[in-house]
Amino acid sequence: MALLTQDAQEIHQDALLPDRIPRHVAIIMDGNGRWAKARGLPRTEGHRQGTENLRKILRACVEFGVEILTIYAFSTENWARPAAEVQMLMKILEMVIDRELKDLDANGVQIRHIGELRGIAPGLQKKIRQACEYTRNNHKLILNVAFNYGGRDEIVHAVRRIVEDHIPIEKIDESLISRYLYTSDLPDPDLIIRTSGELRVSNFLIWQGAYSELYSTPTYWPDFDKEALRSALIAYGQRKRRFGQTDEQIVP
Ligand code: IPE
Ligand code: IPE
Ligand code: MG
Repeated sequence: MALLTQDAQEIHQDALLPDRIPRHVAIIMDGNGRWAKARGLPRTEGHRQGTENLRKILRACVEFGVEILTIYAFSTENWARPAAEVQMLMKILEMVIDRELKDLDANGVQIRHIGELRGIAPGLQKKIRQACEYTRNNHKLILNVAFNYGGRDEIVHAVRRIVEDHIPIEKIDESLISRYLYTSDLPDPDLIIRTSGELRVSNFLIWQGAYSELYSTPTYWPDFDKEALRSALIAYGQRKRRFGQTDEQIVP
C-alpha cells in the first residue's frame, strides 16, 4: 500500500474487490410511501415503482457477485396498515410473480420465501409455493423474499417446532436454533441495507443480523439504483468486522 500513489490508493479503496463483496445482502426496502407523497402520487404508486426498482437491483446484485439477496417486502406488523393498502401489497406480490417468474428463472434466480404462509390468501400462497418450486434448481442468485415475515414470529415458530420435535435440552444451542429458522441453510446476512434514512431494524432478521454490518441511506427505495448499491457495497468493503476480537487479531 505504501508504494501506491495517492490516486491509486483511492482507486484501491473504492474498487469493489471480489473478496470484499458481501455474500449475503439483506435490504429493508423502505420509503415507497414517502417517495409517492413527495410527487403528489398515491402510496400504491410508490409500491409499484418499488417493484420496478427491484428488477434493476436484482440484476446489479448478480453483476456485483452477491450470492444471496434477502428483501423485506411485507412485515407481520404491516397487517396493521389500512386494509386497502394491505390488499394492494398482496396484489403487487401476485402481479410480480405472474409477470416476472419466467424472466427470473431464465436469469438463474432461485426464489425462496421466508415468513408465514398462513394468513396469506390461499391463491397467493399457492403462487408463492409454485414460484419457489419452479426455480428451485437455479443457482445464480438466491432471492429470499421476506413476506409476512417477523423476526420475533420466526423465533416463536422455531421454539414451537423444537418442542414438537422433543429436542433434549442439552442439544439446544445457537446452531440448532439457527437451523430451525426460515433461513436454516443460509449464511447470516453480511450487510443489511435500509433505505429512507430510518435507523431501526423493524423486526427484520433479528437473530441472523446479530453481527451484520448496517448501512442506512436517506434515498427512498424507488430511487435506490445500481450506483446507490455500489456505494453501499464499497462502504461494506471498508468496514472492519471484528466479531468481538481486537483489530490485531483480524487477518487483513
Ligand atoms: C416500504 O415502504 C414498503 C413496505 C413497508 C411494504 P413504506 O410503505 O413503508 O413507505 P414509507 O415508509 O411510508 O415511506
Ligand atoms: C419495514 O418497513 C417493513 C418493510 C420494508 C416490508 P416499515 O415501513 O413497515 O417499518 P416501520 O414501521 O417504519 O418501522
Ligand atoms: Mg416505511
